[in-house]
Amino acid sequence: MMNTTSQNQAYGVLLSSNTVNARGDNNAFQLQPLPYTQDALAPYISERTIQFHYGKHLAGYIENTNKQKAGTEFENKTIEEIMLHAGGSLFNNAAQVYNHYFQFEALQPHRENEAAPCERMMEAIRKEFGGFDEFKAQFTQAAVTLFGSGYAWLTVSPQEKKLEIIQTHNAENPLKDGKIPLLNLDVWEHAYYLDVQNLRAKYVENFWKIVNWNAVEQRWKKAV
Ligand SMILES: [Fe+2]
Repeated sequence: MMNTTSQNQAYGVLLSSNTVNARGDNNAFQLQPLPYTQDALAPYISERTIQFHYGKHLAGYIENTNKQKAGTEFENKTIEEIMLHAGGSLFNNAAQVYNHYFQFEALQPHRENEAAPCERMMEAIRKEFGGFDEFKAQFTQAAVTLFGSGYAWLTVSPQEKKLEIIQTHNAENPLKDGKIPLLNLDVWEHAYYLDVQNLRAKYVENFWKIVNWNAVEQRWKKAV
């Protein structure tokens, strides 16, 4: 049996993993509530965007995962196990379930005094990127320059505990490359087009107002 650290390395540090892997009838995953109301992130992310992004897109990925895993070797597997071991459309849908829950649980209503991580993680960010503003600039650059659909991520490597900013395309997740995700930003157009149309940079600027750094720090502590 794996210890907690190696489990975190294998399956990542989605804090709500137990909740999002709960099953209902027919062993099906069920859309879980957000940790805030659908209008709570406004004006940075509108209620209407959440209604679609959470209520339609994430719900759709869950529905497709359930349909496609039924009757297969993945029937009883967790979202993380499906993401790491399935291919094709089942991978795409399960990874999108993970990626969306991962982003939504690390957002919160804007709080002026919580716009940065606490001191211990801040120290690690300073060490790797030279400063918090430098980190945000590099992450923003990764989000803005990603061509097409995908995600910007802050990850940590399991052995060296090295922080890194990476881009992935479509539904891909850094866990598949052995990196533990700490923070992600969905730059699929469905994430921002209702609010800011083609202005992805504005969406990223808004994102920094509503990152739940406490959640990110909890993930980092689990990972390292
Ligand atoms: Fe999305």
